[in-house]
Amino acid sequence: MAETLYPITLTVNGEAKEAQVEARMLLVHFIREQLGMTGTHIGCDTTNCGACTIILDGRPVKSCTIFAVQANGRAIRTVEGLEKDSVLHAVQNGFHQEHGLQCGFCTPGMIMTSVALLERNAAPTELEIRQAISGNLCRCTGYVNIVKAVQHASAAMREAKQPAAAGRA
Ligand code: FES
Ligand code: FES
Repeated sequence: MAETLYPITLTVNGEAKEAQVEARMLLVHFIREQLGMTGTHIGCDTTNCGACTIILDGRPVKSCTIFAVQANGRAIRTVEGLEKDSVLHAVQNGFHQEHGLQCGFCTPGMIMTSVALLERNAAPTELEIRQAISGNLCRCTGYVNIVKAVQHASAAMREAKQPAAAGRA
């Protein structure tokens, strides 16, 4: 018997989307299979690894832990939405500059968690960074360069917010 489909509307990286989904469809499967946005990874689909982390209404969420229907009427951001006009987001650049990745599998989730952290806390301590990413597992890096990447991004974002006039006096 065919599954009942439910209509949902949501904002994805600033763009309005409408879709029909089965009640049991996980948000991560909706993002990857229906939207075709495969930057959000699946490492476990049991809420352990954090590879599927996206930002839902401003908060980092493991998208394998919620259903697509629960995103109805809400706004999600994925790693695809970070780059603007071919310029990397400061967090993406931080991971690049500080070698915050090796195989890259955990990276989209790490980056989305870090973006959400820096949006609520522009200057986190090392401990706060480590606490924020504690739900994101990395098998490769040992986390040291990931922490450096977030610190790099934090400094760059704060510098970018300095009034331009300050340097011209
Ligand atoms: Fe969602 Fe691992 S795929 S936590
Ligand atoms: Fe390989 Fe993190 S870079 S799992």
